[in-house]
Amino acid sequence: MSKTEENLYAAFVGEAKASLRLKGFAQKADKEGYPQVARLFRAISAAEEVHALKHLRILDVIKDTQSNLEASFASEQTVRENIYPDFIKVAMEEGNKAAEVSFGHARDAEEFHGKLYKGALEHLVAETESSYSVCEVCGYVAEGAPPEECPVCLAPKERFKRVD
Ligand code: FE2
Ligand code: FE2
Ligand code: FE2
Repeated sequence: MSKTEENLYAAFVGEAKASLRLKGFAQKADKEGYPQVARLFRAISAAEEVHALKHLRILDVIKDTQSNLEASFASEQTVRENIYPDFIKVAMEEGNKAAEVSFGHARDAEEFHGKLYKGALEHLVAETESSYSVCEVCGYVAEGAPPEECPVCLAPKERFKRVD
């Protein structure tokens, strides 16, 4: 990897983190009653996302859709089996209950993400059309309408966001 490719990757990671951090800041500004500041944070967040995606495209990380589905499936498996279990263990040892729950929700939701990728790979040619519902508490994703209760975190269906 050339120095510029390393820099592109570092810039991608930095911009992606900034974009998400600004989304968090926007939510907080809304809660604190600063809707205009929230708008500003959201606008800059969208701009940092533009930067992140541009760097990523130059890096050639984005392949054809079948390869992207395969890579995404593999990475769900890695985080579920190799990363989150260790993180959960350490959080328990350190008595950080919030982190333990957050890691646990993520680990459990990743399994469902993996299943959705697998299904998509199997039906890549004969695509069926449906929306998705994302649990805003734990990140579980359902195909179509949300369940009455989230199978991962038990949140009610009102906590789901539809993605078209
Ligand atoms: Fe930027
Ligand atoms: Fe995931
Ligand atoms: Fe959930």
